[in-house]
Amino acid sequence: MLRKLETYLENKILTLPSWLSAHLKRTADIAVELANIHEADPTRCKLSALAHDIAKTYDNIDLIKIARTNNLECSEFEFSHPEVLHGPVAAFHLNEYISEDISLFNSIRWHTSGNKNFDTENKIVFMSDKIDPNKINKRPELNKIKDLAYKNLDHSIIEFFETQFDYLTKNNIDIHPESKKYYEYLT
Ligand SMILES: [Fe+2]
Ligand SMILES: [Fe+2]
Repeated sequence: MLRKLETYLENKILTLPSWLSAHLKRTADIAVELANIHEADPTRCKLSALAHDIAKTYDNIDLIKIARTNNLECSEFEFSHPEVLHGPVAAFHLNEYISEDISLFNSIRWHTSGNKNFDTENKIVFMSDKIDPNKINKRPELNKIKDLAYKNLDHSIIEFFETQFDYLTKNNIDIHPESKKYYEYLT
């Protein structure tokens, strides 16, 4: 099944805008590095990383429509902040490859907010997305989070949430309730 997912993603990525395929490839490269350091499966981390944002091309109206029509399990918070639905919608699109594999599903479904059921693989994909060098260039405060990710995943996630909650609060952006739960769980 992983081989089929890989082939699907290789082809899918060719259809995505270059800014998005470049982000997915950078995220996948970091995921492989982190998997090797933290003794996770590099191929699985790479595939989830390549997959996580494949639904990022949809606008909010389409994301809501896809989630509603297909009865995706999404919270009221997610429906009222539809930009975060691109995780659940990506997981839905890959259903035939990942429905039997809860870890692949969770890496993709929960990549925006995090989730307190995360395993090592999920944490690697989550952090690889957050420390994309392009994001660090825009927000240099993420640099120390990147260094931490190579040493201790939980510490890097805690530090990420603290930096992120601060950033979101200052910019008047609501914090995903699942992120708060996960942060509380880790601390
Ligand atoms: Fe995303
Ligand atoms: Fe991303």
